[in-house]
Amino acid sequence: MKIPVLLLCSAVTLTWGVAVKQSRKFPDGFIFGTSTASYQIEGAWNEDGKGENIWDYLTHTNPAAIEDQSSGDVACDSYHKYERDVEMMRELGIDSYRFSIAWSRILPNGLANNVNEAGVAYYNKLIDEIVKYNIEPMVTLYHWDLPQRLQDMGGWLNPLIADWFADYARVVFDRFGDRVKYFITFNEGAQICYEGYDWVTKAPRLNMSGIGEYICAKNLALAHAKAYHIYNDDYKPTQGGVCGYTIAVSSFVPLTDSDEDAYAAELVNQLQWGLYTDPIFSKDGGFPKELFDLVAKKSAAQGFPRSRLTDFTEEEKAYIRGTGDFFGVNHYSGSFASASLYTPQPPVPSPKDDIEIGQFAPDDWPQAASFWLKQMPDSIYIVLKNIQKRYGDVPIYITENGWSTHEGIEDEGRVAYYRAALESALDALDEGINLKGYYAWSLMDNFEWMAGYTERFGLYEVDFEDPERTRTPRKSAFIYKQIMKTRTIDHDYEPESYVMTIDEGH
Ligand SMILES: *[C@@H]1O[C@H](CO)[C@@H](O)[C@H](O)[C@H]1NC(C)=O
Repeated sequence: MKIPVLLLCSAVTLTWGVAVKQSRKFPDGFIFGTSTASYQIEGAWNEDGKGENIWDYLTHTNPAAIEDQSSGDVACDSYHKYERDVEMMRELGIDSYRFSIAWSRILPNGLANNVNEAGVAYYNKLIDEIVKYNIEPMVTLYHWDLPQRLQDMGGWLNPLIADWFADYARVVFDRFGDRVKYFITFNEGAQICYEGYDWVTKAPRLNMSGIGEYICAKNLALAHAKAYHIYNDDYKPTQGGVCGYTIAVSSFVPLTDSDEDAYAAELVNQLQWGLYTDPIFSKDGGFPKELFDLVAKKSAAQGFPRSRLTDFTEEEKAYIRGTGDFFGVNHYSGSFASASLYTPQPPVPSPKDDIEIGQFAPDDWPQAASFWLKQMPDSIYIVLKNIQKRYGDVPIYITENGWSTHEGIEDEGRVAYYRAALESALDALDEGINLKGYYAWSLMDNFEWMAGYTERFGLYEVDFEDPERTRTPRKSAFIYKQIMKTRTIDHDYEPESYVMTIDEGH
């Protein structure tokens, strides 16, 4: 698509405002961490009673779907190497580590009648090792690795999954909540539902375009709310933790200052995250109104006897509303939005066809190794402002933010990305936005879903050819360490050597 240069001079001027403001400090109590996810790092896919999950199934039955025909069978082998992982956390000096639990490792067939004690023991060892060094664990219950047996029964399209998930959540709270005070039910609803059920870019690749995402989104909200209420009623009073929800939020900026483009950006926000978070965090609850009405109208015009997006009952709306102690943001990039950028494309129906909005990211934004990832100026600030505008002063954690490269430890692109991102976070903090923490994605290279091992997101490089899966700190690891240590961003800082040690007190 060719974009006239003129359009770049949009009303919303984005600048590379990496003004070096070295005096600005992250506030006391601000949490710095790193993130990972079970399937991407653990390996040991069939050890000690673990059940098969949808990524085991996809990579084993359809290896061609993965860029390098790889799998997470071994990945970083964190199932055996978790002590080294914790040592890296101490080297970096992080306050908190976000990781996820593999549902099928503790409930092999997905249902809670059969708890796999060996799987529970693994997470107990990991959590004990983390808290031993005063690192705060943050646990995601579901980061995309559904037990295959539940997928066989429809997965997130079967309304009964709200109960199955709630039963699983209870086991997690019960076994780990004495030491874990931060729980996240879901990682990235749109990637679970759109990419997995509407399209083919995540397991289970159902390809039910225009239908799968909306059914899944509703079931996910109900599952989240059930788990939240269980935590809130039965565990929070004694365990004293919090339970939130993580969603991918990109910064969508109107292409021009026209009302049409403002509406376009609003619709993209509604589809990409409001669909998942409005039911939980908005004042009135329920799905975003404009999107809901559009899908109903399109469905009718397409001959569907009822809308492809089924509404909640009033009772369900009330049950879901308010079930988030914090808002977790996974943020990577953004784009301009406008109806004028839209080109109709099959398949129809689809969520894209429902809203008819196009997006555009300028060529001069730096490009990561991942095709979908460009560095947008000020994007964290824009995203946090959007969330505040939508939901008020809800506590926010950036639960993922990162940059992909190819192999190699000189990762200047990642260094530049992190510095700019954290400046943008400081801009938001300066304005009183309730941002409480920041987790870099990722602690180390790992299995990057459909891209296999071809794209690297790690502060530490992992040698996937080496049976030991040796981890080596990249330049960015030293830069991030210095930022956490000084609580400031020094744009001129260069590590003296690439020898990593553990500082006193970690
Ligand atoms: C997904 O469905 C579309 C039709 O809606 C079809 O053209 C496409 O080949 C399917 N993709 C896969 C990977 O099955």
